[in-house]
Amino acid sequence: MTRERGTLRRAVRLLGLDTRRVLLAVLTGTLALGCAVALAAVSAWLIARASQMPPVLQLSIATVAVRTFGIGRGVLRYVDRLVSHDVALRGMTNLRTTLYTRLAAGRSEATLRVRRGDLLARVGADVDAVGDVVVRGLLPAGVALLLGIGTVTAMAFFWPPAAVALAACLVLAGVVAPLLAARGARASERRAVTARADASAAALAALDDAGPLLVAGGVGRRVAELRDADRRLARAVDAGAASSAVAAGLGILATGLAATAALVTGIPAVVSGALAPVELAVIVLTPLAAFEATGMLPAAAVSVQRSRAAAARILALLDSAAPDAEPRGTAEPPAATSRPPVQFPELSVAIHDPNVRKVNVGEGAGIVARGLDCGWPGLPPVLRGVDLDVAPGRSVAIVGPSGAGKTTLLLTLAGLLPRAGGTLLVDGDEPTVLDPAERAARVVVTAEDAHVFGTTVLENLRVARGDVTPDEATAALTAAGLQDWLAALPDGLDTMLGPDARTVSGGERRRLLLARALLAPAPLLLVDEPAEHLDPATADALVTSLLAGPRTPAGGPRGVVVVTHRLTPLAAADEVLWVESGRIAARGTHAELSAGLLDYGEAVRRERVTADHRERA
Ligand SMILES: Nc1ncnc2c1ncn2[C@@H]1O[C@H](COP(=O)(O)OP(=O)(O)O)[C@@H](O)[C@H]1O
Ligand SMILES: [Mg+2]
Repeated sequence: MTRERGTLRRAVRLLGLDTRRVLLAVLTGTLALGCAVALAAVSAWLIARASQMPPVLQLSIATVAVRTFGIGRGVLRYVDRLVSHDVALRGMTNLRTTLYTRLAAGRSEATLRVRRGDLLARVGADVDAVGDVVVRGLLPAGVALLLGIGTVTAMAFFWPPAAVALAACLVLAGVVAPLLAARGARASERRAVTARADASAAALAALDDAGPLLVAGGVGRRVAELRDADRRLARAVDAGAASSAVAAGLGILATGLAATAALVTGIPAVVSGALAPVELAVIVLTPLAAFEATGMLPAAAVSVQRSRAAAARILALLDSAAPDAEPRGTAEPPAATSRPPVQFPELSVAIHDPNVRKVNVGEGAGIVARGLDCGWPGLPPVLRGVDLDVAPGRSVAIVGPSGAGKTTLLLTLAGLLPRAGGTLLVDGDEPTVLDPAERAARVVVTAEDAHVFGTTVLENLRVARGDVTPDEATAALTAAGLQDWLAALPDGLDTMLGPDARTVSGGERRRLLLARALLAPAPLLLVDEPAEHLDPATADALVTSLLAGPRTPAGGPRGVVVVTHRLTPLAAADEVLWVESGRIAARGTHAELSAGLLDYGEAVRRERVTADHRERA
């Protein structure tokens, strides 16, 4: 638990709160509620004094004070909302910026390992939840503390025993009740988490397999499982409700106790003449307002519990992305930082385009892999012993069954996953130790789940390079097989795409990302399944154009690696790698493999027969 506490504190520190603004927010909050307390005190005095029927002039000052405090309370509360939300929103912006910066500069497999929806939830709702701590936890607690001290001090001037009782009751309402509420929330949340996960898993399973289940008569069992999980969830929530009810009750009890204590100690004092009757009214009624601040704290404590879980998720992401983080539980830690002894001479030619860096074309230029093992950190390698040379101007195709590790290989070659063994150099450097910008300047990979932004087509392509001209964009879209799509868009390149790319189909999205990659200046291009969702003829044309004489946007030679499931277009590749069973099962040119490898030749013939069928049909 202490570790959890530290978690929230670390996350709040990442909000980078401005102390002066926080103090201002606490001050305005305290003044707003202070007005409420003063209002209660002055009203009590006014009512009690009026009953003694003094000259009206004596009362008029109090009437003005009542009005002042009444108006001040509303105005100050409004100002307080502005200031405190400003503090929280600035904090959330800071946290998000830190998160983006660290994720962008950090270990990319940290983000690759998290599901997209999960990642969005962390930068979205989780950051909001941490920001909530400020508005709902930190500031109200500060306000309650200051207001409590202020009210008790003021009370002490009138009647010290009542002040002591008020202080004790404020501790009961402001410390004991919130702690109790937090404990209940923690316990019920712990039980609810598993029940909630079980409920969603059961619901998903029932929906996913609805058809087969209906046929097999298994629906009843699944629904019973779902009901059971739902019942456990309801019980867990109910269990938490008891302690939050007690906490709420404690707040009311404390208010009553404070008023009673004031009466019990105050009446004898009035009788003995130590306290004026009007003052008795003030010390009895003022506590009623003083508890307004503590009344919010039990709910605050519960929301802090929730924020703590969000903070833990954010920090886990940040920690796993930290450049010096050990990949969790890696069986064979890659000696990522030790530079391999081989040093390749660097021969470079300058290209006129200022955006394009010098391209290394000497020996050792491009990708050089020797005995490379690829895999996901913490898991055994999925592909072992890859030898590969992709110099600028050379094209390599990778084929193999689904799950063979093709995508994993591409991500490793691009330096987005640490290698699990062997050596890998990109233009003479280990890609994982390169600074991300430098790495992106050398090698670009079309990530399957790269983001399509809620902006125009052209701006989406400019993600690759800020100065892409409309002509270049059109050329790249055409090269990616999107000319018809582009022609059908209402505003051409200026058409807005939906924020979640709703206006783009799966295949179009993938080719849009391909066009983006084509526009990147990097001399090495790695493309994952560009032709998915395309009809065979279009797919073959697209893959052929990628493999045949690849060039950078500036016209320089470009090395490409294309993962594809179509074999027919591979005649255009300089080399074809067949991956299967965790290794490169065969390699050679398309002609060599077609002639020498039975399975390969057979697969090519099948593609041809299917194509012929289609043509005849
Ligand atoms: N994000 C991931 N985390 C852990 N393992 C993964 C991840 N993505 C893929 N894998 C595993 O790596 C293996 C190879 O997958 P992949 O490279 O996607 O194959 P292919 O692209 O050839 O279909 C599979 O066993 C898969 O389960
Ligand atoms: Mg894949």
